Amino acid sequence: MRVSGPPSQSHERYERVFAEVEAPFAFVDLDAMWANADAMLERARGKPVRVASKSVRCRALLQAILDSDERFAGLMTYTLPETLWLAEQGFEDLLLAYPTADVGALGELALRSVANPDGAPIVMVDCVEHLEAIESVLGPRAAPVRVCVELDASWWALGGRIKIGAKRSPVHTVEQAVALAREIERRPQIELDALMAYEGQISGVGDRPPGRRLRGRAIRWMQRRSAAELARRRGAVVRALSEFVELQIVNGGGTGSLELTSAEDVVTEVTAGSGFYAPALFDHYSRFAQTPAAGFALPVVRKPAPKIATALGGGYLASGAGDAGRLPVPWLPAGLKLDAEEGAGEVQTPLLGDAAGELTVGDRVYFRHAKAGELCERFDTLHLVQGEEIVDVVPTYRGDGQTFC
Ligand SMILES: Cc1ncc(COP(=O)(O)O)c(C=O)c1O
Repeated sequence: MRVSGPPSQSHERYERVFAEVEAPFAFVDLDAMWANADAMLERARGKPVRVASKSVRCRALLQAILDSDERFAGLMTYTLPETLWLAEQGFEDLLLAYPTADVGALGELALRSVANPDGAPIVMVDCVEHLEAIESVLGPRAAPVRVCVELDASWWALGGRIKIGAKRSPVHTVEQAVALAREIERRPQIELDALMAYEGQISGVGDRPPGRRLRGRAIRWMQRRSAAELARRRGAVVRALSEFVELQIVNGGGTGSLELTSAEDVVTEVTAGSGFYAPALFDHYSRFAQTPAAGFALPVVRKPAPKIATALGGGYLASGAGDAGRLPVPWLPAGLKLDAEEGAGEVQTPLLGDAAGELTVGDRVYFRHAKAGELCERFDTLHLVQGEEIVDVVPTYRGDGQTFC
């Protein structure tokens, strides 16, 4: 299925490929995706890469990625119902990366753990309440449920007065990690198998923001210090836990930090998801360059003025801080931009720029989403392209009738 390098990505090529497909539609350019996959394996320096399902949200592609190379090992999932659904579909080695308060789904997990004690999904915990929720669904004869402790990876400066990173786990210090692990040890029906720390302030923040050199320099400075601090702290936590727990997994990183996280000796595996599709938010990193691999096409439906082309729909904003970087990016033909007043709208997206004057009603414009998997919440199918051909049309999670949060 793999080819040596992605063919050029031009409006003409995609127009040839999609000549028979009615827009709107979404697609994944497999040549680009496999080039991205290879690049990420290289950056992971031989460590296994767990695939983040939230950033792919398509069963067929998750399976194809796992089948493509044995170094892609296991999935990092994002909700417990999703995890159970994937397990039902035959996916194995599942690590749920976010804590759950879904007691019904925990009950199902408990049944799975009885059926397959060593192969059941691992769920995330960071406090005693999470342990109590798990225990509340376990009968006296239940098999142990496997858990992973999440260590906060944020970077604290000025004695903790400044905290940079996502507000995730309250477990930050070695002492806090040991205390939670001891709590787990006291509970025979819960088994601690893994530790995870996700350094979003490194992995998820481009260090070369366009037109903002000083900000870029400040981000690189912060990321260097944060990476060094986390390497020390993660190492100390793993050593302390290893005194009384046999950790099978020490997971870290994401698309944006593969080379840094994989360099830490204690890390047994890294995670990557967004890098397969390479959405717009991943364009601005100094450490790597991915090839855009996922997009969507919209039809031009009106021309409010000769130099403006208005496409149907398009307001597929990405989650996050709500800044302009969350808007989709007009991609092909090159030379289009969003209108500052309207942005990408619920029912229409006016396009400005040199190329807009050339577009007429019925033409198609190709866009990229700011994030990876969220594109799949807008479309039932992905058209898979290889070379000059659509080789398959596969359901997204949404096309499978599944939405997980
Ligand atoms: C726990 C965790 N690990 C890894 C990642 C990295 O995912 P990606 O490679 O899609 O950036 C994320 C992204 O949010 C995450 O929450």
